[in-house]
Parts: sequence; C-alpha cells; structure tokens
Amino acid sequence: MRQFNVVVLGAGGVGKSALTGESTSLSHHHCLPSSPVRFVRDVFVENYDPTIEEQYHRPMMVDGELSSLEVLDTAGAEQFTSLNEVYIKSGRGFILVFSLTQEVSLKEVESLRKQIFRIKGSESVPIVVVGTKSDLVSEREVPTTTIESLANRWNLPFYETSAKRNWHINDVFEDLLRQMRLR
Ligand code: GTP
Ligand code: MG
Repeated sequence: MRQFNVVVLGAGGVGKSALTGESTSLSHHHCLPSSPVRFVRDVFVENYDPTIEEQYHRPMMVDGELSSLEVLDTAGAEQFTSLNEVYIKSGRGFILVFSLTQEVSLKEVESLRKQIFRIKGSESVPIVVVGTKSDLVSEREVPTTTIESLANRWNLPFYETSAKRNWHINDVFEDLLRQMRLR
C-alpha cells in the first residue's frame, strides 16, 4: 500500500484540527486505525484547544485503490510558524486552511502557498485549499466570488467545508490523494 505524508497548514483557530484531527480529550500523538476530528474520527469538538502538533494515520480507499495517509496537523499559532519549513520539506501534499469567517486568514494561505513553491523548488505540488466554517453563514467574510477568482488565479482546487456539519470534508482528502498519486 502506498503511503503519503500530508501536512495541514493555516492560521490559528481556522479549524485545521476540527477538519482533520482527534478529539482533544484523547491523548496526543497516538495513531488511530480508521476514521480525522472529522476526517479521522467523525466527531466535532466545539471547544477551541490550540494544537502544538499531532499526527494521524488513516487508510483511504479512492478509485478502488487503498492508500495510507499520514496527516500532520500543525499549530497555527505565531510562535510555531518557524517550524513550517521543516513541515513543508516533510510533506508530499498540503491542505491550506483558512476560515470563511475570517478574511485575513486567506493572507496566510497566500503566504504558505509561496513558501511551499519556494521550498519544494517547483509549482507542481499537490495542494488543496479549504475554506472552513461554511455553516456560520451570518459570520461569513469571504464571498464565493473571491474564492472563484483565487482558484482561477492560483489554479488550485478550493473546497468550502464545515466540520460541524460534516460538509465536503472527505472531498478534500480524496482530491489531495488523487493529486498525490499522479505526481
Ligand atoms: P490551531 O490548532 O490553534 O492552529 O487552531 P485550528 O486551526 O486547529 O482550529 P480548531 O480546529 O481548533 O478550531 C477552532 C475553533 O473553531 C473551535 O472552537 C472549533 O470548534 C471551531 N470550528 C472549527 N471548524 C468549524 C466549523 O466547521 N464550524 C463551526 N461552526 N466551528 C468550527
Ligand atoms: Mg489545531
């Protein structure tokens, strides 16, 4: 079975752990056999507990082929962003996360995208961009038109997700896995 390292990057509090991770009540740094919070474990945690670093393992069947994803959920907090270079070197594919309720979090995605291309020395890197918290309709700051124009300009797939409602979470990982298999 092919194994792929995935790194989840984005500003603090945008919902990286809710998208990928483990319930914060469980111990850190352990592996789970199956299901992130949404992608591995299929639950949603309302409390905000900033991440330091957590890694999850998940087998995934896409297009009839079983692969293994090693997903690294990183810290968005400013004091940890010096680690990003190390994370980017270790990753085969990247999930760049911003919150639809926080326009400024898109700037971080823009800067991460540039860092990845610089560190990898190529623009042919598997990347999916994710706008989270689509359920918070009345708090939304990033309109679909902004997303469409960025998707065109960057030529990257964008997904609008809600970890709370479990909307389009699996689409993100499937898209990334297909890209990683091709490159
Ligand atoms: P750091 O680990 O500090 O970088 O933050 P993070 O990006 O991992 O954010 P986290 O997943 O911890 O989520 C932050 C807060 O947003 C938590 O209170 C979550 O419950 C909430 N949240 C995350 N995703 C969603 C979502 O899709 N909808 C709603 N309504 N809230 C969300
Ligand atoms: Mg987190």
